[in-house]
Amino acid sequence: MTDLSHPNPNSARPGDAADRFPKDCWYVAARSVEVGRALLKRTIACENLVLYRTEGGKAVAMIDMCPHRHAPLSLGKLVGDSIECGYHGITFDCEGRCVRVPGEERIPDHFRTKVYPLVEKWSFIWVWLGDPARADEALLPQDFRFQDDPEWCPMDDYIHVKANYRLVIDNLLDLSHEAFLHMGTIGNAAVADTPAVTTIKGDNIEVKRFMENCAPPKLFVRAGGFTTNIDRHQRIQFVPSSFVIIEVWATPTGKEEKGVIWWVLNALTPETERSTHYFWGLPRKFKLDDTELTDILRAGVTRTFREDCDMLEGQQRNIDRVPLEQRTIYTRSDQAPTRARSIIADMVEREAAAAGVRP
Ligand code: FES
Ligand SMILES: [Fe+2]
Repeated sequence: MTDLSHPNPNSARPGDAADRFPKDCWYVAARSVEVGRALLKRTIACENLVLYRTEGGKAVAMIDMCPHRHAPLSLGKLVGDSIECGYHGITFDCEGRCVRVPGEERIPDHFRTKVYPLVEKWSFIWVWLGDPARADEALLPQDFRFQDDPEWCPMDDYIHVKANYRLVIDNLLDLSHEAFLHMGTIGNAAVADTPAVTTIKGDNIEVKRFMENCAPPKLFVRAGGFTTNIDRHQRIQFVPSSFVIIEVWATPTGKEEKGVIWWVLNALTPETERSTHYFWGLPRKFKLDDTELTDILRAGVTRTFREDCDMLEGQQRNIDRVPLEQRTIYTRSDQAPTRARSIIADMVEREAAAAGVRP
């Protein structure tokens, strides 16, 4: 049986790529709607997981590797609340206990597989890859709660990106790019021309930008019906290790009432070193029952994020040949992304030191 005491049983040896991501943190593994009574295979931070629901509806995340001969459990089948491995039929319940070994009567206690701490909340399924003893629900990024608040209209979706998740975090912490990449949706000139105020306190990063008396971006006009210039606010927070939370509101210039108010909740789950599961939510606090607006916003955000993906994937292809560390230009807008990268690197280093391995 596999040594499950190793911090990452998917990793062939300490120091592999799989060990270069923070593990003592929550990652979004799936949207709630994705997980049902079929086995869903998903790679997170180079670990292979299989997700499913019990007959009672409880979501389960298990390592996608049978501890007998390492067959993927996702090639097996559900028998009640357990997975029967598709190779030799050894069966594990939703707690990871081995409950059947065909042809054998006695099942030793150590015949177990790894089950990950899991929380289902706010439209998403969150898993903890690291030490289960540290999996504290209070560490979830609390602003995702607007997905589950009757005063807000929730929305969520997913995009797969062939680029490292830190590039996506860089992208969201430096929104000056909206003025060039997203002029068809959320970009306006003001977002690049207005300096942002970046505040860094420990592992908390906040970037604020207040754009007064500016032209409304196209998606804002469609959503808020603006006919005049607007005052536009952005407050961006990095929540280690993989969340960027953006509070957005806009009013007709000089007016009190908010025409548009939403959060962009971004969960950037590393898949591999060169790919990301980009989960997003967009709860809004206006026109809650307007389903046409929901469709407009979903299409607008999807278009916007696809524009990001094209750029990020192009960046990744270049970075594969020329490391980002060799770049020669840094600007004021790079402050927050650079700090976020060092926070993530520190997390990896701390965990490696605690586990006695070199990252
Ligand atoms: S590999 Fe799973 S039962 Fe043999
Ligand atoms: Fe973008």
